[in-house]
Amino acid sequence: MSDMSATVSVTPQGFAVAGYEKLNYDFKFIDNVFDPSKSDLANCYTKWGRVLAVMDENMKSLYGPAVQAYFDFHQLPLTIHAMPVGEKAKTIASLLGIVDAMNSFGVIRKEPVLVIGGGLVTDTAGFATACYRRNTNFIRVPTTVIGLIDASVSIKVAVNYGNYKNRLGAYHAPIHTFLDFNFLKTLPIGQVRNGFAEIIKISSCADIETFNLLDAHCEELIATHFGRADGSSKEIKEIADKICWNAIKVMLELESPNLHEIGLDRVIAYGHTWSPLHELVPQTPLRHGHAISIDMAYTATIGKELGLMTEEDHTRLLKLFSRAGLSIDHAMFTDDVLEKATAAILKTRDGMLRLATPGPLGKCTFVNEYTIENLKQILATHKTISRGHPRQGDGLEAYVDATDTGEGNKEEILKEIKDQQKNSLKELDGYPKKQVHEALADDQAPNGSMPVNGVNGHANGLSNGHASPVAVESS
Ligand SMILES: NC(=O)c1ccc[n+]([C@@H]2O[C@H](COP(=O)([O-])OP(=O)(O)OC[C@H]3O[C@@H](n4cnc5c(N)ncnc54)[C@H](O)[C@@H]3O)[C@@H](O)[C@H]2O)c1
Ligand SMILES: [Zn+2]
Repeated sequence: MSDMSATVSVTPQGFAVAGYEKLNYDFKFIDNVFDPSKSDLANCYTKWGRVLAVMDENMKSLYGPAVQAYFDFHQLPLTIHAMPVGEKAKTIASLLGIVDAMNSFGVIRKEPVLVIGGGLVTDTAGFATACYRRNTNFIRVPTTVIGLIDASVSIKVAVNYGNYKNRLGAYHAPIHTFLDFNFLKTLPIGQVRNGFAEIIKISSCADIETFNLLDAHCEELIATHFGRADGSSKEIKEIADKICWNAIKVMLELESPNLHEIGLDRVIAYGHTWSPLHELVPQTPLRHGHAISIDMAYTATIGKELGLMTEEDHTRLLKLFSRAGLSIDHAMFTDDVLEKATAAILKTRDGMLRLATPGPLGKCTFVNEYTIENLKQILATHKTISRGHPRQGDGLEAYVDATDTGEGNKEEILKEIKDQQKNSLKELDGYPKKQVHEALADDQAPNGSMPVNGVNGHANGLSNGHASPVAVESS
């Protein structure tokens, strides 16, 4: 929601307008937002007497009945528009599908569309509302870790276009965001890792307390889906809540003064310099969390070489990625990719590298002095260091699968999500710390011989070999 204020003055040759826009939007933490006894969300719709909700097809299958029951209870007729799943569906066509649903519904000016889902849905539907009558309200309910601590913290909305990620978009604030971490209970573990990577990003550059918590509880946080899986202890839930609360706060403090990204030195761009090409280059795209982890780990090696970070902190950071099952290198991260990705990012950063680097750990330094030859040398050093880490620096379930892309048979996809859920919950039997720690421990055979699903090079997914639509990301 925004208020405009402007003054008009007469100039010798015409007029000049000076104005500003005041934004108001809020975030409310609420567990089980669709519990009928909680009226917070329903209250936003009483005035309108009805609700148009946008979800993706997975979310509609998993949560559609609960959302329906909630609004039935509050006597608010509900229409759900389900958009396709996956990054490939982050298109103008999906946006127009949402616009058609808004037309059929007859959205009244100021009536907020309810957007429920991960970053893909909140970005696409958020952009549809930004375009619709030039500006229509929306309310967000993020359901992934990335959504909760990243995508739905920002006001950026977008779709991909013509091989470019987020090429068409807007800055469009929702009126409210409801943060319900209980959605994480059903989130596939690969998606939990993606979000974990983003929290490493923010904390290693801006919040050492949160970094220390991630480091102390890494395996348990992931296995318990940030303390929300059945069987999680009260302690881990409290720690996870603290981590997420901190991450959101830091993110808001860093980004709110720069909502329109006029300043290009951005702490939250750590890990988002070369990562767009990491997502693009492998035949089956790398998951975002793995692509940024590779970028973050390499950037940290640059920081260590430049003396910004101690060797000890560098090792600690790389170990954390490894313990989390995230990648720290990739065979396809070559000199050529490095060169191409550097050229691409310079275009979006006004000709400068502006490399956000943790240095020292918990603080950020922007590196601008470099030569390509020097970057290549450090990449060689980084690869040597990575080989000494578990799985030789590869990650677990590093590639997108059908649960990300939505390609393949819908029932199989839902079964896959439910199986993944069961498997991660199984890890919790008799409390996980030991088993899970062993499964991810850094003393695993470094030759990648441990029997895990989806280690780099062996995508676990139901879909294979489609080209990613992603070229250059603005994070
Ligand atoms: N606007 C921003 O500032 C910003 C920031 C970060 C990322 N993004 C965008 O977000 C997108 C990625 O979002 P994402 O990582 O949330 O992925 P996503 O929205 O594609 O969701 C990932 C998968 O998880 C499923 N899912 C979602 N919630 C679930 C739940 N609670 N239980 C079970 N399954 C669930 C989805 O159906 C999908 O299959 C990218 O397009 C990226 O560009 C935007
Ligand atoms: Zn990111």
